[in-house]
Amino acid sequence: MLKLFGISGSPRIAATDWIIKEALRYAEEKWNAETRYFSVRGKKLNFCLHCDHCIKEGSCIHDDGMKEVYSGFEWADAILIGTPVYQGTLSGQVKVALDRMRAFAASNPHGLRGKIGAAVADGGDRIGGQEIAIRSIVDFYLINEMVPVGGGSFGANLGATFWSKDKGADGVKADKEGLKSLYKTLYRLAEGWVMMNKKGGERESGRKEL
Ligand SMILES: Cc1cc2nc3c(=O)[nH]c(=O)nc-3n(C[C@H](O)[C@H](O)[C@H](O)COP(=O)(O)O)c2cc1C
Repeated sequence: MLKLFGISGSPRIAATDWIIKEALRYAEEKWNAETRYFSVRGKKLNFCLHCDHCIKEGSCIHDDGMKEVYSGFEWADAILIGTPVYQGTLSGQVKVALDRMRAFAASNPHGLRGKIGAAVADGGDRIGGQEIAIRSIVDFYLINEMVPVGGGSFGANLGATFWSKDKGADGVKADKEGLKSLYKTLYRLAEGWVMMNKKGGERESGRKEL
């Protein structure tokens, strides 16, 4: 069974929260996926201090909301990160979470290898930086040996993009093209997961030190 971890990188219960919950609902309905949800809303997420405690001791010096993120990444086969567009790119909250994943890699250097990663971004403007936000998340997947998926050409390209018109959940619910891009991206995510598993558990064997 596909285990999908969805992260909302908005400090509000609004557009991004709705999109990620809809994605998890869809994956449960279509593929009987097991899902987990995490929102940055109300969570204490400290900046990475580059203290290198994680490199020396194998764990992060902070004790905060990232614990749930670490356990979600560990548990999942696939990760969907959603971000509102802030100043033309991902939200600060998502950036902090991605920076803090250095501690995860320090304790388990190939722990994310072969996991599928997809991204969704919603902006108040039609072209407000959604693709740049997605690219930053995809870079994180690449750096961490994951397998990034987009949504394919004719509709979803790098991943799911929404135009919220700054109307929160109502705005993205009304964005039919955005929803199409979300479902297309989820299909690619599910296909990627099937492909990784078909090849006789390459993900497991790929964990060997090279
Ligand atoms: C600090 C800040 C910066 C923003 N910058 C952009 C931007 O550069 N481009 C854009 O399209 N929307 C921008 N927005 C609007 C949000 O991306 C948009 O309303 C989004 O759908 C909010 O998601 P949420 O409802 O999940 O919080 C910005 C909003 C905030 C608060």
